[in-house]
Amino acid sequence: MTDPTDLLAAIAAAPDLATLDAVRVAALGKAGSVTALMKTLGAMAPDVRLIEGPRLNALRETVTAAIHQRKSDLDAAALDARLASERIDLTLPVSPGPAGTIHPVSQVMDELAEIFADLGFAVADGPEIEDDWHNFTALNIPETHPARAMHDTFYMAQGGGVADEGAGPPRGTVLRHLLRTHTSPVQIRTMLKQPPPIRIIAPGRTYRSDSDATHTPMFHQVEGLVIDRGIHMGHLKWTLETFVKAFFEVDDVTLRLRPSYFPFTEPSVEVDVGCSWAGGTLSIGGAESWLEILGSGMVHPRVIAACGLDPDEWQGFAFGCGIDRLAMLKYGMTDLRAFFDGDARWLRHYGFKATDVPTLSGGVGA
Ligand code: PHE
Repeated sequence: MTDPTDLLAAIAAAPDLATLDAVRVAALGKAGSVTALMKTLGAMAPDVRLIEGPRLNALRETVTAAIHQRKSDLDAAALDARLASERIDLTLPVSPGPAGTIHPVSQVMDELAEIFADLGFAVADGPEIEDDWHNFTALNIPETHPARAMHDTFYMAQGGGVADEGAGPPRGTVLRHLLRTHTSPVQIRTMLKQPPPIRIIAPGRTYRSDSDATHTPMFHQVEGLVIDRGIHMGHLKWTLETFVKAFFEVDDVTLRLRPSYFPFTEPSVEVDVGCSWAGGTLSIGGAESWLEILGSGMVHPRVIAACGLDPDEWQGFAFGCGIDRLAMLKYGMTDLRAFFDGDARWLRHYGFKATDVPTLSGGVGA
């Protein structure tokens, strides 16, 4: 088949890519008809070749172009057919649907990080398996201090040792390992690690041998610590007020600072937030009734000195707050023990979607 009209008709009529390719091989392949014609050029008389050469080249180009055109038409038709037959409905729900939720404690920790980041606080952490120097001694709770007994501490049967040279406990100090009873040892670790000014919060797990409707052996606290020059109680009060307003998303917040005692702060205060119980439900705001939410105070000079800083130059405030209790107050749970039961129904009810990322602009509770 060398008649160009027949060839072009065969190309145009090729119903699919395989047939088209067969036509291509029959015309342009090694043994193809057009190729055979091209080969006759060499034997031609020069004057004949002068005419036949361009004619045959033109024929080959026309055939090549026609094959390309047909190929792209067939490709387009095949794609159209696929598009017509295949459908994806993007509005259908994902199957299986998301099953997990963000635990309210994790959500509240993220809310705290968001609120305090806006005030210039970094998030710090420390080990849950602590030693008694960081958990007690450096916090001005010496061995004989009654506060040690009040902490219902879980001590490790083994471990511990004697302190080496280095930042922290004086060389030779006998260390006992325990599960940290509060997040306050992170104050010590942070002051030993970084020079002031310091602004950190430290959320995390804490442990005490205690169990009832409002106490579990493992619970969560967030520690706050600011160390700088010229820090006073006014800074503490403003920071706590700003935090409580952002956290509970109410502007009308009244804080009550009650004198208290912690060995590691002087003066020490316990902080209550004003609330009301209209119709049996709790709402934060006003000053009708009071809920204790945290302990705080000015960091004791002895604690600052235990971390190798000069208390005449550096002052600061610290606070410690139960995260589980914050979550209960904000989201309305009544039994703390359910937090740690791992009951899927509770988690579905009180848990958050992974997309509910707390942001200040979206209202921290999202
Ligand atoms: N660590 C204290 C507690 O667990 C709370 C606290 C922290 C008080 C920091 C004052 C300053 O009860």
